[in-house]
Amino acid sequence: MARPNADVGHILMAVLVDGFGAFGYRTRLWQGGSLTEPSRVEILNRRLAVEAWGKGSRTVQNGIAIVKDVYWVGVNDRRTPLFEGIWPIPRGVSYNSYLIVDDKVALIDAVKDLSVNGYLKKLKHMVGPGRQIDYLVINHLEPDHSGAVPILKEMFPAMQVVGNKKTAEFVKDLYQIADMRIVQDGEEIDLGRRKLKFVLTPLVHWPETMMTYEPTDGILFSGDAFGGFGTLDGAIFDDEVDLSYYEDEILRYFSNIIGKYSPMVQKAIEKVAGLDIRIVASTHGPVWRSHPRHIVNYYDRWSRQETEPGVVVAFGSMYGATEKMADAVLRGLADGGLKAIRSHNVSTSHASYIIRDAWRYKGLILGSPTYDAGVFPLMDSLLRLLSEKRIANRVVGLFGSYGWSGGAMKGMKSFVEETKLELIGPTVEAKFAATPEQIEQCHALGRAMAERVRHSD
Ligand code: FEO
Repeated sequence: MARPNADVGHILMAVLVDGFGAFGYRTRLWQGGSLTEPSRVEILNRRLAVEAWGKGSRTVQNGIAIVKDVYWVGVNDRRTPLFEGIWPIPRGVSYNSYLIVDDKVALIDAVKDLSVNGYLKKLKHMVGPGRQIDYLVINHLEPDHSGAVPILKEMFPAMQVVGNKKTAEFVKDLYQIADMRIVQDGEEIDLGRRKLKFVLTPLVHWPETMMTYEPTDGILFSGDAFGGFGTLDGAIFDDEVDLSYYEDEILRYFSNIIGKYSPMVQKAIEKVAGLDIRIVASTHGPVWRSHPRHIVNYYDRWSRQETEPGVVVAFGSMYGATEKMADAVLRGLADGGLKAIRSHNVSTSHASYIIRDAWRYKGLILGSPTYDAGVFPLMDSLLRLLSEKRIANRVVGLFGSYGWSGGAMKGMKSFVEETKLELIGPTVEAKFAATPEQIEQCHALGRAMAERVRHSD
């Protein structure tokens, strides 16, 4: 039933004032392909069409129309403390799922099993009585998107599960589902008025990952790519949310989950560059209908390991000796004229946040006391994670302390050698407590790093 356009004034105002937020113009825009920034008139028309069409599609509980006949039917997770059992999500996360109602009904990705009740109710409402879901497209099989698959199969027995050859292998192992429709790269499925085209983008960040492209409205269902942490609190579109609130969480998601696979992200971006993309609909975080280029641009930049001129100082300290050295380093950075300085005590900052900041900034200064003749365990864990994430293109400084035997500095130097990062001096190592000369050296390290990163990319 058509809805009166009572909200036209409100919508128009929103279009005029939404602006670009913090995600705006700080970096160069991605230049690839034909990814379109829609005009404001186009955005307005799109919103009016969605508003006019209505059909109870205005609530998170019932699903929200992205364009006519295409709905966000995702769920928010505000209960899970650690994503993948590792990464804190105090602001939660959304599992985005999309429903296309055409001659055939297609569901693009599902949700985690913990949120399944509300999700199924929503689908039942949106699909309507007597209809089935014909296709479930699995762009990515990680259980945060596939946990609901077994119950969906029970609820819609005729539903065909669609994925690529790798998906078929994994879905059999994970859910004992053997009757899958396997699609090839570039293959299409006709839904009636709309088509779905499959683009295989392996290892972003699992081997089976792919994207699904809908050409009529230029929607790229991109799986985890272009996603971020943070629930969608009522607002789901990039032009509805406060992007400055989401930005850090998107980078944290990228650096924690996707960053290791940066070369594959680059390949994926290259691969979709020829498509006319007007909406980017990831499995996590906002739907980018007004500025899809911005999120692609950020992923492009981060996966190239491009950095901003700033420095992260991460240190461990048992009784304050190494922290005192960290303070001298930090003062050196400030005296060197640097403003983007982030300090993390590894005992109080989760590695997730340190990795995020390390991914953003050019400089990384590490300080560790010796513990059991080696690197302080929490620092050791951070170094291992940074190395596993294949962080590159950074400048590193080192300082630390020891008691009766060394070990921390040796371990940190091994990290620098393994990762082939650029080491900047002076390297400072103190026995029990730093002397005034060593404090001066720490300050000099900060100054040297500030000078170095201020003249970097
Ligand atoms: Fe959002 Fe890789 O699962």
